[in-house]
Amino acid sequence: MERLNILLVDDQPAKLLSYEVILKDLGENLIKAQSAREALEQLLRNEIAVILADVCMPEQDGFELVSMIREHPRYQNTAIIFVSAVMMTEPDRLRGYAAGAVDYVSVPIVPDVLRAKVRVFADLYRKTKELERLNSELELRVSQRTAELEASSEQLRRLNEELEHRIEQRTREREEALAQLFEAQKIDTIGQLTGGVAHDFNNLLMAILGSLSLLKKRLPEDDRSERLLGNAIQAAERGSALTQRLLAFARRQELKPTTVDFEQLFANIEDLLVKAVGQGIDIKLDVAPDLPSMLVDANQLELALLNLFVNARDAMDGAGSIILQVDAADHPGSLSDGRYVCIRVTDNGPGMDGPTLARATEPFFTTKGPGKGTGLGLSMVQGLAAQSGGALELASRPGAGTSVSVWLPVAGTSSDLVAGGRVDDASDVPTVTGELTVLVVDDDPLVSMGTVAMLEDLGHIAVEVTSASQALQLLGEEKRFDIVITDHSMPGMTGAELSRIILDSYSSLPIILASGYAELPDDQGLNELIRLTKPFSQDQLKEALQQAKTPQVSTVQSNRH
Ligand SMILES: Nc1ncnc2c1ncn2[C@@H]1O[C@H](COP(=O)(O)OP(=O)(O)OP(=O)(O)O)[C@@H](O)[C@H]1O
Ligand SMILES: [Mg+2]
Repeated sequence: MERLNILLVDDQPAKLLSYEVILKDLGENLIKAQSAREALEQLLRNEIAVILADVCMPEQDGFELVSMIREHPRYQNTAIIFVSAVMMTEPDRLRGYAAGAVDYVSVPIVPDVLRAKVRVFADLYRKTKELERLNSELELRVSQRTAELEASSEQLRRLNEELEHRIEQRTREREEALAQLFEAQKIDTIGQLTGGVAHDFNNLLMAILGSLSLLKKRLPEDDRSERLLGNAIQAAERGSALTQRLLAFARRQELKPTTVDFEQLFANIEDLLVKAVGQGIDIKLDVAPDLPSMLVDANQLELALLNLFVNARDAMDGAGSIILQVDAADHPGSLSDGRYVCIRVTDNGPGMDGPTLARATEPFFTTKGPGKGTGLGLSMVQGLAAQSGGALELASRPGAGTSVSVWLPVAGTSSDLVAGGRVDDASDVPTVTGELTVLVVDDDPLVSMGTVAMLEDLGHIAVEVTSASQALQLLGEEKRFDIVITDHSMPGMTGAELSRIILDSYSSLPIILASGYAELPDDQGLNELIRLTKPFSQDQLKEALQQAKTPQVSTVQSNRH
């Protein structure tokens, strides 16, 4: 236990000595002072627990000493015991209490009493100190805890804010994803609908065109009739071009991807593009050197470029400039890794505002007014890019022009055909001589009637059936056929399925698969087939027959895939 300082103040050394003797047993530290001044010095120097002071001292009496001691903040509550040699009157005692004394011992001193009193006050001092210590410890702990609590509540607040922010962000991402999904589903639905309608239209146009061109041959010479018929054929052909755009947007057109060298392709259509945009528009070409070839349908790419140039022309109202940049660029995030060529058409026209830009590639969306635009241009280009394994991206701001980028995959080094190797005119193909017996399979009698008429007009014999099962039955009956021409989309068994059976069972029998759009399964086994895209002309039919009968030639000039 720590020893406390007990200050003994008396002007008489003998008395001090006697106090010392009496209090020695307490085991505390006894400090002696012979005057009030000495007492004050000790008080300032040490921390005193109890003061024992004589009331009567020559310079300053005990009362004066006490009132001075009380001035010091450290000694406001220190126990002061007065020793009074004379019997004190009650008013004197009260004066002493008022000055700050806490107790009295009177002379003659009873040692036990003095010892007991000092001990009590020393104990009190110890307890008070302990309490103060505990209290300040408690305060410290409380303030520590408060600080910890504040820190953790701050952390909580920050976490909460962060969480709210993340929830907001997630919600926004989700909403965006949902909007994109909705948009994709919408386009998909329109695509399916359009594709289906376009397919049926194709069949009808096929019948119309086929019949009209045969009629044209049979009609006696008559200018007026010929003009009318010419009009009808032209209209049907325009209808056919329109269905091609629809199929392109629906990503169901019959593509013939070949290895295309951009500069070569551009050379073919440069004059056309210049004419299409008109004199007021300046075309700048910026093609990267050593550009790799692309794998794409050359005809469709030409058409796509024309669409983009015409869009730029329309936007610029006949005056401005178009920059055509082509390079082997980084692909956008939407595409998987691989090498791509980027074709970018940039104009300095008025650009598009947000809502127009957001809808520009939507099928049938146009701002060009009734009869002026179909709204299929950009959707066709996007359809072509997507179906070719590439992508389309638009960048535009009001007043800052428009830039349309089309990414197309770089062609591999394999056997992709060169751009120049597109299907040659039928006139270049040696004509099949002799009469062929052709089995025509099509569930649409209008279409098969047209095909049959064309075949007969070419001097062949045609046998018509309306389903794959009928075809197989006839083949099974040992009827001799030279060629089978089959439609693809038929109820029950499809043309592709029928072809596979024929390839297995009658391997020498050539098959021509006629289809309106690229719906054929990716089946290597069907690569041997000759394909005819509906609607087809009599010349195209003739060419297909020619390929069917001369397989060696067909591998070079075919429109096979
Ligand atoms: N270069 C461009 N500058 C400004 N707006 C454009 C540009 N290209 C397209 N647009 C906007 O996008 C819309 C859709 O274009 P898209 O080519 O699909 O159809 P269209 O040009 O209106 O019709 P069509 O191509 O059948 O003539 C346009 O009507 C036009 O508002
Ligand atoms: Mg357009």
